[in-house]
Amino acid sequence: MKAWLHALPDLPDSLSTPSAVAAWELSCALPGTVVTLNTVPDMAESYRAERSADGSWNISGGKTGVLYGAYALILKSLSGESVPDVIESAPKYRLRMINCWDNADGSVERGYSGRSLFFEGGRLDYDPARMRELGRLLASVGLNVLCINNVNVHFPCQLLLEDYLEQAAQLADLFRPFGIRLMFSVDFSQPMRHGIPTADPLDESVRAWWKETADRVWQAIPDLAGFLVKADSEGRPGPFTYGRNHADGANMLAEAVRPHGGVIVWRCFVYNCRQDWRDLKTDRPKAAWEHYAFLDGAFAENVILQVKHGPFDFQVREPLSPLLLGMKHTNLAMELQLAQEYTGHQIDLYTMIPMWRELYEELPADNIMSIAAVSNLGRDENYTGHPLAAVNLYTYGRLAWDPDTKAEGAVTAWARLTYGFTPEDTEKLVTLLLSSRRIYEKYTAPLGIGWMITPHDHYGPNPSGYEYDLWGTYHKADRNAIGIDRTAGGTGYLDQYPPEIRRKYENPATCPDLLLLFYHRLPYSFRMKDGRTLVQRIYDDHFEGYEETERMAEMLKSLPFPSPDREIILQRIDMQLHNAREWRDIINTFFHRLSGAEDEKGRTIYL
Ligand code: GCU
Repeated sequence: MKAWLHALPDLPDSLSTPSAVAAWELSCALPGTVVTLNTVPDMAESYRAERSADGSWNISGGKTGVLYGAYALILKSLSGESVPDVIESAPKYRLRMINCWDNADGSVERGYSGRSLFFEGGRLDYDPARMRELGRLLASVGLNVLCINNVNVHFPCQLLLEDYLEQAAQLADLFRPFGIRLMFSVDFSQPMRHGIPTADPLDESVRAWWKETADRVWQAIPDLAGFLVKADSEGRPGPFTYGRNHADGANMLAEAVRPHGGVIVWRCFVYNCRQDWRDLKTDRPKAAWEHYAFLDGAFAENVILQVKHGPFDFQVREPLSPLLLGMKHTNLAMELQLAQEYTGHQIDLYTMIPMWRELYEELPADNIMSIAAVSNLGRDENYTGHPLAAVNLYTYGRLAWDPDTKAEGAVTAWARLTYGFTPEDTEKLVTLLLSSRRIYEKYTAPLGIGWMITPHDHYGPNPSGYEYDLWGTYHKADRNAIGIDRTAGGTGYLDQYPPEIRRKYENPATCPDLLLLFYHRLPYSFRMKDGRTLVQRIYDDHFEGYEETERMAEMLKSLPFPSPDREIILQRIDMQLHNAREWRDIINTFFHRLSGAEDEKGRTIYL
């Protein structure tokens, strides 16, 4: 299935405005329903849809608001939700972004859905009909910015150059009727490829180069949303080389794009990735705060700092990044990752919205003004490799529009739109999807410790694979204890939070179990709140995680998925079972060998 809009026929390529798309989609999806569209310029992206006594509808909205209103009406009607007489809505976040990590050679960094939708062989290479289909998929859930190239801008991805720009402009034309603006990742040292000896943000020739470049780029694509930048991170160039800070770097670019209404989205994933494991002073989760918090208020108005949701890197469980709570005078975007890099490669089931909901328990929705997600899209027929991974794209869009979106409602709507099962089967599928993240968590790295994954590839277990590596990701397990003390008495990471959060986590007796090993170094004999020892809890979770995966497999087999989804789903759940078994046995053996503790229930642990 091609995600949730599969029922609609292809769009004609003559539609050039959001209201033309809205009218066409409505006529296809709700053929007997009369809908009048009324564009009200100052309503921008918001809309109001109202049903009249005779059953006809009137949708008023801004230029793209009418399109969002039309999709809301269509999706609500098709999913069998009850449709109120008045639907009024406006997006919470200004930029609702998808970040693709696509390379010019057609590969996708951390991509699990086939090759790039946009590039091949060093060039832009896309199917216009597919782009229209993608446009409506993204617009149907209100997403409005698509960054098409990898944040690691590898040569020769030269989107800023003439010969690329022409085709990129044609691509922007294809997305414009859907209210979607393109964004480009740029390389901070790009001027040095054009005869300028430095990329120093305070150097006049560098500033002039970026200005001229921005003028040329926006002339080709007048509504380009902006540039996305990964600087001084994992080998990327940046302002540190010149003794400048990140406000110097971001503001210089911001000045160049400001006349065109562009923004600079500046990523905060900056840490020492060449750490010595012997170094006990550096604690990687502290890095983002240390690099940015003191710059609060120093960034230009059109700079947005994009912060990964957790302080590490998209592990199965991490606390909310303290930076998202600490920078009150800076525009922030939270970055999520739909690509299942550490969460099962779109082989294992992993529905993310329960995790996102947990983030919002601590993040006031108003703290951020935009939101981004690393894409899980690729050239596979179904876009997301695993057909059920599309639920993450759909629910991300819903959450980006309305951060109060509830997990169960959104997953149910997706399931109904995609498969149209009976209510009983829909309920089974929804239950399974909602539990899938917790199941994955149970059989992988325990209680917030993270990182026990195969290095570099990031699929499958390797408990000490990152232990003596350069990346700052250590668990320091010995025969007595495991974990890093991140309280005031330890690395002090917890000091980066407001007091109410600090208090919640600083005491192992009150710290939520599932983050215990993120914050504390504890002996295997530590008594959990329910009386079990820490090591027994780890064994129990791993046995349960595997058993629950087996039950998930049975349930999936019993559901009437159409072909080819059925074949893909059954093949992948077999792979997941194999993976879960590896994780269970390797993690349990690892802890048994270290601690010598027997499983109280006498289950098999391989020695
Ligand atoms: C992770 C991921 C990289 C990616 C990086 C980033 O480290 O493994 O592939 O480039 O995040 O977000 O920049």
